[in-house]
Amino acid sequence: MNVYRVKAMTFLKYDTKILDVDKEIIAGKDISKIKETEAVKLGSEFIKQGEVVAIPTETVYGLAADATSENAVKKIFLAKGRPQDNPLIVHIADFSQLTELMSGRLSIYGEKLIKTFWPGPLTIIVEKGNMISSTTTANLNSVAIRMPEHPVARAVIVEAGLPLAAPSANKSGAPSPTRAVHVYDDLEGRIPLIIDGGPSNIGLESTVIDVREKKPVLLRPGGISQEMIESLLAIKIKVAGTETKKEEIPLSPGMKYRHYSPQTPLFLIENFDDTIEKYQGQSVALIVTREKTNELKHISLDFKVLTMGSRDNLEEIAANIFALLRQVDQLGVDVALVEKIPAEGIGVAIMNRLYKASIRE
Ligand code: TXA
Ligand code: MG
Repeated sequence: MNVYRVKAMTFLKYDTKILDVDKEIIAGKDISKIKETEAVKLGSEFIKQGEVVAIPTETVYGLAADATSENAVKKIFLAKGRPQDNPLIVHIADFSQLTELMSGRLSIYGEKLIKTFWPGPLTIIVEKGNMISSTTTANLNSVAIRMPEHPVARAVIVEAGLPLAAPSANKSGAPSPTRAVHVYDDLEGRIPLIIDGGPSNIGLESTVIDVREKKPVLLRPGGISQEMIESLLAIKIKVAGTETKKEEIPLSPGMKYRHYSPQTPLFLIENFDDTIEKYQGQSVALIVTREKTNELKHISLDFKVLTMGSRDNLEEIAANIFALLRQVDQLGVDVALVEKIPAEGIGVAIMNRLYKASIRE
């Protein structure tokens, strides 16, 4: 038997279903009602049986399994093709679960942060307790924990009655999924069920912050900005990757891997107007702000143009960017050029993802 067939047998064993939860039921945010939907019932049942299910969250879609079960969590790594040394975030629906899953005491800053930003796009790193499988945390003695805001995610956690390990539900290295169909495109045949809860409204992954030491360390920029954290805590926090050599703080294990990349080579353009001249006559897509799209209308270019949103509304760009990175592959162009956007507020997280997704000269 050749390697390809072995692989195929390992992965392609599910007839992947997409089940949606009615928009109005989601909008009602009544967890007890959402728990009764077919999608959530079936999804929770699969999870209790040790299977992996894709769930919507407000940041991106997650690939969820029982965080306490080594076997279940292994299936997440297998389905995504994720390196074993990259730990997963554990998702909870209730504050009391945090105490059960961690050891030691939560720091004062940690407490302030979760009181303000949970449920929501913030993940904290704390000392790991015994309940979580060491496969979930890639053998680290810390664990990443987040309480998502999306009512469907919360309903699945409550109905399964388990803490859920869930990385973004993309194939490892690909842009994170912000719609159920993105998950299907990446993982069809590899998981039994995708719960469709509509588009993820934030569109970028959570902020990851280590709150074990006295001074919190920002490991991954995300939905909650550094400014929001600093103004709440009334201190300057540390940011991984920006300290001087002597006290360099290691990034989250996952930050060293190639990430978020479409198949099409992507270039992040410093000096946009000069650069596009060079590409005249070539097969190119531009991913640009609405303002730039309007400027370009007056120039005759035969590039394909994808608009990411307005410079004045970085939240809109955040919500669109991963979908655009996927869309660019449908255009059949040789390269894609991306306009830089202001690195302020959530713009820091957008630029962080674009840097990783792109090739820089
Ligand atoms: O918004 C999100 O956070 C989404 C949704 C599904 O919740 N999840 C997500 O998971 O983005 P993932 O696996 O794609 O990214 C998790 C990041 C990785 O960079 C990983 O290395 C880091 O969190 N991480 C997890 N556990 C950690 C730990 N104990 N210490 C440091 N970094 C950790
Ligand atoms: Mg990810």
